[in-house]
Amino acid sequence: MTEAGQTPLPLVVLISGSGSNLQAIIDACANGQVNAEIKAVISNKADAFGLKRAQRANIPTHVLDHSLFGNRQSFDRALKKLIDGYQPGLLVLAGFMRILTAEFVNHYLGRMLNIHPSLLPNFQGLNTHQRAIESGVKQHGVSVHFVTPELDGGPVVNRAIIDVDSSDTTESLGKRVLAEEHKIYPEAVSWFANGRLQLNGNQAMLDGEPVPALEKYANET
Ligand code: GRF
Repeated sequence: MTEAGQTPLPLVVLISGSGSNLQAIIDACANGQVNAEIKAVISNKADAFGLKRAQRANIPTHVLDHSLFGNRQSFDRALKKLIDGYQPGLLVLAGFMRILTAEFVNHYLGRMLNIHPSLLPNFQGLNTHQRAIESGVKQHGVSVHFVTPELDGGPVVNRAIIDVDSSDTTESLGKRVLAEEHKIYPEAVSWFANGRLQLNGNQAMLDGEPVPALEKYANET
C-alpha cells in the first residue's frame, strides 16, 4: 500500500512489444500497490501493442523509431532528451529490445530497472526459455535488475524461481515465467518508489541489506 501523503514517483516506461509488464505496472499504480505515476510510455516500434495499453490508461505515448537514426548514439541521445522532458525518478525497461549505449546507461545509473526472463547471471541475452530447457536445468525464472553498462549484467533486485518440468516446452515455461514477471516487477518498482531499494556500487540494497546474487550454472549454454 502507498504511504499516505507521499508524492507518487514519476516513471517513464520503455517498451518494444506487447507491454504485458507495462500493464502490470499500470494496474499496480492504479490500485495503490505502487506509489508511482507513469508520465509517458515510449516505444521504438510504432506497432507495439503496449502503446494501446498506455493510451487506454490515458498515459502520453511516443514512438521513437530507431531505424530513422544513423547510429546507436544518436538514437540514445534523442531518447534521453525525450525521457528527461518528463523528469522521471525511475526509468523502467519493460520488454525494450534495444542495446543501450554506456553514455545512456550511466546517465540513468541507479534509477533504471530492467526485467529479464532468466535467473541472472544465467542465460543473459535472447531465447532464455529454450536455452534453459536445452541445458536441462531444474530451475528457471525471471530477474529484475538495475541496468549497468554490461548487458543483462546489472545487480539483481528481485527474482522469482520456478521449477522446470520434464514436459515443459518453451511456450509452457515462458507462460509460467511471464505470470511471475507481472508480480515481481510491480513489487520492485514499489520498493524503489518507497525508497527501500538503492544501487550501491555494483550491489543492489533492499532495506539496507544486500540482495544476494545467484551462482552461475556450470552447464549453461
Ligand atoms: C518479457 O519476457 C521480459 O522479461 C522481456 O521481454 C518480455 C516483454 O514482455 N524483457 P511484455 O512486452 O512486457 O509483454
